[in-house]
Amino acid sequence: MSGHGTPIPMTSTACGPLAGTAKVPGDKSISHRSLILGAMCIGKTTIEGLLEGQDVLDTAKAMRAFGAEVTDHGGGSWSVVGVGDGGFAEPENVIDCGNSGTGVRLIMGAMATSPIVATFTGDASLNGRPMARVTDPLALFGCQAVGRKGGRLPMTLVGAETPVPVRYTVPVPSAQVKSAVLLAGLNAPGQTVVIEAEATRDHTERMLAGFGAEIAVEDTDAGRVITLTGQPELKPQHIEVPRDPSSAAFPVCAALIVPGSDVLVPGIGLNPTRAGLFTTLREMGADLTYENERIEGGEPVADLRSKFSPDLKGIEVPPERAASMIDEYPVLSVVASYAQGDTVMRGVKELRVKESDRIDAMAVGLRANGIEVQDGPDWWIVSGKGHGNVAGGALCASHLDHRIAMSFLILGMASQNPVRVDDGGPIATSFPIFEPLMQQLGAQVVRTNK
Ligand code: S3P
Repeated sequence: MSGHGTPIPMTSTACGPLAGTAKVPGDKSISHRSLILGAMCIGKTTIEGLLEGQDVLDTAKAMRAFGAEVTDHGGGSWSVVGVGDGGFAEPENVIDCGNSGTGVRLIMGAMATSPIVATFTGDASLNGRPMARVTDPLALFGCQAVGRKGGRLPMTLVGAETPVPVRYTVPVPSAQVKSAVLLAGLNAPGQTVVIEAEATRDHTERMLAGFGAEIAVEDTDAGRVITLTGQPELKPQHIEVPRDPSSAAFPVCAALIVPGSDVLVPGIGLNPTRAGLFTTLREMGADLTYENERIEGGEPVADLRSKFSPDLKGIEVPPERAASMIDEYPVLSVVASYAQGDTVMRGVKELRVKESDRIDAMAVGLRANGIEVQDGPDWWIVSGKGHGNVAGGALCASHLDHRIAMSFLILGMASQNPVRVDDGGPIATSFPIFEPLMQQLGAQVVRTNK
């Protein structure tokens, strides 16, 4: 299902109102970090609500290969008995991270300052993605990397024997790069400092503090300055993983475009570094409300109610919001197709190096379904048709990218003709219950033979 297997073609046909409650799975970013940080401390970390998507399962397998005892107790309940900071064992075999950029980049950081050798690989999507953005800063700690041309996987890392702390300014807005440096800094003596010009998701910082590390964050003119004191004694935790806002985006957006819909998506993490899509949708005229707002595990959480929104308008999305909704642009472009006027998205170069080139994948598929899209290196503009006017009818390539597959299936829920995707298999990487959950709301999403 992770893209290694036989393609699973799927079709989405316009449906009646979507209604009911959509309980989406646990947050992918927090799930990876729970397993990795659990493996980096001595003792037993317990996790409730872990996302059991293939990406996270691959990270669980990797943590076992580095010596941690990872146990699935059923129903999203997991435990990790860690080996301690700097205690990773050398894996006996290649670490296969499947489709997951977060998995491989965070794990590279976590092992980079231990005196061990590990070789990483992934599927065709992951093996095409840039890794130098992580191995360059890890080299400053004393970790060596040898990979394929262009810094691609498969790649072997030789961890530093005597790591030194690092001061590093992240050159691209990337929480994966920031996190890899911080995880490497855990086993270096002294203070590791990471500076990011643009704030990206801060789960690693919050969780490191929760695990007992000394970490300080300061907002300065140069950006966020994060200072981590190395070689802390991390203490095992109990973690309740909030539901994933990036998965919530799919039922939320579907309800906005399917006439008559009213869907409740409960318990969604609304950390400001993740919630940019919901702000954007409201600016477009979405009938999207936050109910029962509360704090859970130190994170803002709310139940989202999303209703059919007849008057959606295209807007210019502020580029400074990009990092807080980076994974949501594909599904935003679907909502934009049903809005009146242009939706302008700038400052989104990073979309070109995700599981696929997401600007290209969406632009090609939307055009085939009758939507006008213009695009450049770091921008794209979707010219909306308004409700009832999206033709649909095309077969779209998912490019081994879960969010591309799900976005086109959402497009088909209100288009004049069914929308097909060539392979829905990758959906299992992040949202394994997407199909039954959307069907239970009333969507007509089915597997097809062509
Ligand atoms: C993630 C960071 C983002 C995001 C990815 C998850 C994370 O990637 O796209 O899905 O958990 O740190 P970048 O760091 O490449 O922006």
